[in-house]
Amino acid sequence: MNLADYYNKPRADIAFSYAPGKVILVGEHAVVYGSQAIAMPIDSGIRIAVLSHASSKGPVIRGVGSFFMGEISLSSDSSGPTILKEVLNYLIVAFGSKIKNLLFIVDGNLPPGSGLGSSGSFSVALVKGIYRYFSRPLDKMFEEYVLELEKIFHGSPSGIDHTVIMGEKSIGFKKEGGGCVSWPIALKKPIKLLVGVAGPHLGTKNAVANLLERKKRHGIAYQNIFNGLDSVAKEMEESLSKGYLAGVGELMNIAQGYLNALSVSTPQIEKLCSIARDRGALGAKLTGAGGGGAVIALLDGNESELLNSFKAAGYQSFITEVVG
Ligand code: PMV
Repeated sequence: MNLADYYNKPRADIAFSYAPGKVILVGEHAVVYGSQAIAMPIDSGIRIAVLSHASSKGPVIRGVGSFFMGEISLSSDSSGPTILKEVLNYLIVAFGSKIKNLLFIVDGNLPPGSGLGSSGSFSVALVKGIYRYFSRPLDKMFEEYVLELEKIFHGSPSGIDHTVIMGEKSIGFKKEGGGCVSWPIALKKPIKLLVGVAGPHLGTKNAVANLLERKKRHGIAYQNIFNGLDSVAKEMEESLSKGYLAGVGELMNIAQGYLNALSVSTPQIEKLCSIARDRGALGAKLTGAGGGGAVIALLDGNESELLNSFKAAGYQSFITEVVG
């Protein structure tokens, strides 16, 4: 069937979609320069309802949860992150005037801008919701639309976020020959993580750009760190598939040392990592772009004590499980 025909068919009154958030267990930043990384979907995510509305404002994104609270449209009286106007403009380019009467209600329990994949989760759920609303079957354009949205948030992303979020499975990931490769990692044991939000981060785009500037000054040192992170990722993949979680935790600690050397850690991140390690977590590190954002600690029992210790230190914290 011609694509235009889908948009002319009778459609659902309302469509719902969901996409999970994610954690990067090893390889953030290094992945941009060709090292292996490991990413996993988690049991927190973003949910979107798509429905039509009679408004002269054009398409509207209404945030009713932790992603954002407020209403964004292309009219001047919006409240909320202005980057979402770029998202609306892109949707009109991609899907045409048919989306002009749509309202997107966005809810979910992912803290935004914390390296837990909120923008990737939002992008995947948004495109999935539009497809469902128009009863359009998933096709090869789906990923392209998601990637274009991710570029609005991230500049030139490695692709790891949307790949793990779309696939909803734990993956190894590597950029290769102008593209990227990903492969499934079968987890022998369930992974439970304590998440602590160490403060707002500067945005992935800025973190990646600032690191590039530092790398220009210290190219060999940075390359050696990326090579080190690549070996940590390979060893971690093996530990995960054997269910050797103590080893995974130790490798997370090593990865955090490298991330600190790359100057993407902060005193708050280091503090949360040391609280977690002192209280018996198997390992702890930042996840995502750093410079703030979330710390993840690998749990091995002792959950409520660890959760309380993060909360007592004054950080927004919760326990999450890997779901694929
Ligand atoms: O968007 P974040 O905060 O999860 O960071 C993504 C990981 C980076 O390696 C820093 C960037 C990228 O595109 O891979």
